[in-house]
Amino acid sequence: MFRTIFSHVGQYKKQALLTPLTMIGEVAMEVLIPTVMALIIDNGIKKGRIGYVAGMGLLMVGMAIVSLSFGALAGRLSAVAAMGFAKNLRSDLFHKVQDFSFANVDKFSTASLTTRLTTDVTNIQNAFMMFIRSACRAPIMLIFALVMAIRMNSRLSVIFLCAVPALALVMGFIMTKAHPMFKAMLALYDKMNSGVQENLIGIRTVKAFVREEYENKKFTENTEAVRQAQVRAEKLVITTMPVMQFIMYTCIISILWFGGHMAVKGQMETGELSTFITYVGQILMSLMMISFLFMMFIVSRASMQRIYEVLTEKPTVTDPASPSDDVRDGSVVFDNVSFSYFDDMNNLALDHIDLTIESGETIGIIGGTGSSKTTLVQLIPRLYDATEGTVKVGGKDVREYSLEALRNNVAMVLQKNVLFSGTIKDNLKWGNQDATDEEITEACKAACAHEFIERFPNGYDTDLGQGGVNVSGGQKQRLCIARALLKKPKIIILDDSTSAVDTATDSSIRKAFREKLADTTTFIIAQRISSVKDADRIIVMDNGKISAVGTHDELLETSHIYREVYDSQQKGADE
Ligand SMILES: Nc1ncnc2c1ncn2[C@@H]1O[C@H](COP(=O)(O)OP(=O)(O)OP(=O)(O)O)[C@@H](O)[C@H]1O
Ligand SMILES: [Mg+2]
Repeated sequence: MFRTIFSHVGQYKKQALLTPLTMIGEVAMEVLIPTVMALIIDNGIKKGRIGYVAGMGLLMVGMAIVSLSFGALAGRLSAVAAMGFAKNLRSDLFHKVQDFSFANVDKFSTASLTTRLTTDVTNIQNAFMMFIRSACRAPIMLIFALVMAIRMNSRLSVIFLCAVPALALVMGFIMTKAHPMFKAMLALYDKMNSGVQENLIGIRTVKAFVREEYENKKFTENTEAVRQAQVRAEKLVITTMPVMQFIMYTCIISILWFGGHMAVKGQMETGELSTFITYVGQILMSLMMISFLFMMFIVSRASMQRIYEVLTEKPTVTDPASPSDDVRDGSVVFDNVSFSYFDDMNNLALDHIDLTIESGETIGIIGGTGSSKTTLVQLIPRLYDATEGTVKVGGKDVREYSLEALRNNVAMVLQKNVLFSGTIKDNLKWGNQDATDEEITEACKAACAHEFIERFPNGYDTDLGQGGVNVSGGQKQRLCIARALLKKPKIIILDDSTSAVDTATDSSIRKAFREKLADTTTFIIAQRISSVKDADRIIVMDNGKISAVGTHDELLETSHIYREVYDSQQKGADE
């Protein structure tokens, strides 16, 4: 796990390695300064040699400046390395997520992916910066100071040789306890973010239903849960502090006691004792730093695990080893296809579907909500893979094509479609980057979008705003159809894509499709019988199964479900 994550330091390796080196320079100066201090006191002040004091004083100032410069350099280098590392990690995560199938995204949830890309990366970035700054500094300082102190007075040094193992024990205990707590905290973070995301995406619905109060309450509960989890975890981690301080002051008191005795008895110079105490400070300081590093490690380890999960997730829908790019025609075959969203044959959304569709046919699909209409057609462009059986396009298993070739030939206008910020033209060009203005106009005419686009003051250059807020529901649907048409696909799937369009426009879209897209296999999923009435064949879906297939007239005779829907809609129309 660590190797995968830290390989993202990449081109910032130089800075990451230079940081500890410069830190060594800083530490060396810091450790030598007390020795100079001892010399000043014992050889200079006590013997009244002003020249010596001044000379050594200047040396000390020089050392302090060197130490400071090294410190500043290390700060800069570590910042560059840590931010670069975070950037690499984020962009790799983002690329990875782009390769995810719907099933992969369902597994993590978009909110959790957002947290992983933001909070978790930041946690790792901070820990990494601390680590390269202190991972060398603290142990080196500890060793340096220990060596200097032992050389100065080995008997007194025994005191902190007892303290170190005591500290290590406490640290190890806390680390094993805290890890699961931080993991739980991050899961709550996910939940909070999912609430925020859902609320912001659905803010119009929230307002329409006057649910602000409820949403506020829900959010407060979520943040409160995060707070409690955080407090619980941090409380444990923070107990290191009093333990550290207890050990630290015990050390200082014992050293003052024993050292004081030695000084009084003349076994130790006073300058020596004051320097010794400075070393004690440095030793305890570096121990503190090491324990702080441990804390950062505990916090970031949970984040690293979460990022590692994303980085090593296998996309469930991938290109085959030797993909075919040639989609012969728009024929579609479902051969004993079953599908479960949960990879569970006892919980099927599609139950053993057999279906053969000729290239160029127009197929209507009708059925109650949740009858798996969307699920059925999603398998054609491989938005999901069949759990059992095969789906064939142009005579070949869809899994034999490259995803790009398949999806360029199978255009699907999703039920929940989105437009992106940018102009209308930008959005349409998603269908085909190289589309000419004529092609764009033609597609928009077929989708009955040309007329209303022309009425906008800026026409095709009208800015859509985030998520296409500037157009009405029906206008959005027509733009989405035009966008799909620009792909010039062999198969086009309209999943409830004219539900927000008035019947007259709906019928002229269908007319344009019949005239201009005679060779294109067309799937029309609809709630209105009028939308599918003229299709070559109509499929009636019921609870994950095909209940009936036939033309409008045939189905009126044979399918009671179809008949019922037709009657209810007719009645509505007659009234
Ligand atoms: N991403 C998903 N994860 C799990 N279950 C899902 C998912 N999408 C749909 N389902 C379930 O699969 C079943 C079929 O859903 P589907 O979206 O295919 O229905 P539909 O016929 O298109 O309905 P509608 O007319 O409302 O669009 C439903 O019971 C639904 O709860
Ligand atoms: Mg649907």
